[in-house]
Amino acid sequence: MYMKRKAPFKIKVVEPIKWNTRDKREQLIKEAHYCFAYVPAEEIPVNLLTDSGTSAMSQEQWAGMMRGDESYYCASNWYNFEKAVQDYTGFKYVLPAHQGRAAEHVVCRVLIKKPGTTTYANAHFGTTEAHARLFGANPVNLPAPEALAPETAADFKGNINLEAFEKAINEKGAAMIPFLNMVLVNNFTAGQPVSMANLRAASKLARKNGIKVVVDAARVPENAYFIKEREEGYGNRSIREICHEIFSYADVMHMSAKKGALVNIGGFIATNDQSLYEEMGQWLIIFDGFLTYGGLSGRDLEAVAIGLNEGLDYDYLAYRIGQVEYLGKLMREREIPIYEPVGGHAVYVNGEKAYPHLAKEEFAAHALSVQTYIEAGVYAGENPSSLGWSRTDPETGKYTPPPFELVRFAIPRRVYTDSQLEYTADGVKAALDQGGRVRGFRFVWKPDNEFLRIFYYKLERL
Ligand SMILES: Cc1ncc(COP(=O)(O)O)c(C=O)c1O
Repeated sequence: MYMKRKAPFKIKVVEPIKWNTRDKREQLIKEAHYCFAYVPAEEIPVNLLTDSGTSAMSQEQWAGMMRGDESYYCASNWYNFEKAVQDYTGFKYVLPAHQGRAAEHVVCRVLIKKPGTTTYANAHFGTTEAHARLFGANPVNLPAPEALAPETAADFKGNINLEAFEKAINEKGAAMIPFLNMVLVNNFTAGQPVSMANLRAASKLARKNGIKVVVDAARVPENAYFIKEREEGYGNRSIREICHEIFSYADVMHMSAKKGALVNIGGFIATNDQSLYEEMGQWLIIFDGFLTYGGLSGRDLEAVAIGLNEGLDYDYLAYRIGQVEYLGKLMREREIPIYEPVGGHAVYVNGEKAYPHLAKEEFAAHALSVQTYIEAGVYAGENPSSLGWSRTDPETGKYTPPPFELVRFAIPRRVYTDSQLEYTADGVKAALDQGGRVRGFRFVWKPDNEFLRIFYYKLERL
């Protein structure tokens, strides 16, 4: 059963974990106004907040960092970086960025030319959504209907709703749609993959109407693995070939290298469109850095160049997705209500099912996140849930919570052992067993921009 999970590494360096007590954790999270942004990381023994920037790097990456060339222009590492991105995407023009959102800033700034427009996506990532708004567009998510059924498993629940997209084009008019954003895997709908067929059809529809297609590639290698395993006709194709086909449906791609490229910092943009590249490059220099480093040091560029290739290795991906599936299995065995099936980078637990006595506005998912920390010292962030993801429609003024109240147990790459996942599943079960004793929360302070509630706020117990 586990024969596919041949971990392609062994552990050479270890980072000690400091364990604390339940009383201490209860005190810490209360003092932090029930917001983990204010809890010192060393007080979180098992940190499953995110798989972003939390990967363990390989000996090749660390050795590559020693070869960092810190010249301002055209450092030797830049050429390795450029080649790695070209080989991964099939695109000619590459722009480095210090992380994903810096890349999104440039892409959105250049593609959103006028206010009052609408961008569509299978589901915008939070920072893309914020950038679209910054430049005057209204970002609208069109997830496939099956994505909204957390208990029904299907192969590609990250897909965009093609019918809804076609209807939107007809209603809004293509001239008022600066781009279609496809996020692979779809972070908002529980890390679910997008099928090649769906991406191909969405891209065809967009291009037929002159709408640019932007692929958010933060976790494309994991999406490519799912396509290889699940979609007819792809079983014999390599991960790299599948990635090339994915990017052939995009006019521009951007990637937070902090995920699939196995680094702690980095990002990039790639395209075949020379004029787009030239326009984006001029903004990149102002906001991030010159065309050959984009806010990264030479050693960071090298780590991305090596990590990107390691992240496309089939054995690594089989181990990686296998570990996420293993946590899902452990949760199911303990009758923990999870979003089915498990996605590419995380297991998502349904907060509303865990604590049915709490109303949406009492933040059930966050209550589960806090309780899991108190019981076990395991931290996973609510995502998406009513706390950080409720939005006021700028046109109608209507306040809408997201369709889910989920806690995301994101697994950092190559970091935790299976025994820590077993410990995690027990910890969630202990939090669930607290049941009706767990109270919800209300805001005592929140940042003005609704989007920033993903990151920080202050709460008190009801
Ligand atoms: C799908 C997706 N896109 C973009 C980003 C932004 O990347 P970064 O955190 O590197 O700015 C993230 C970050 O988590 C993400 O999950």
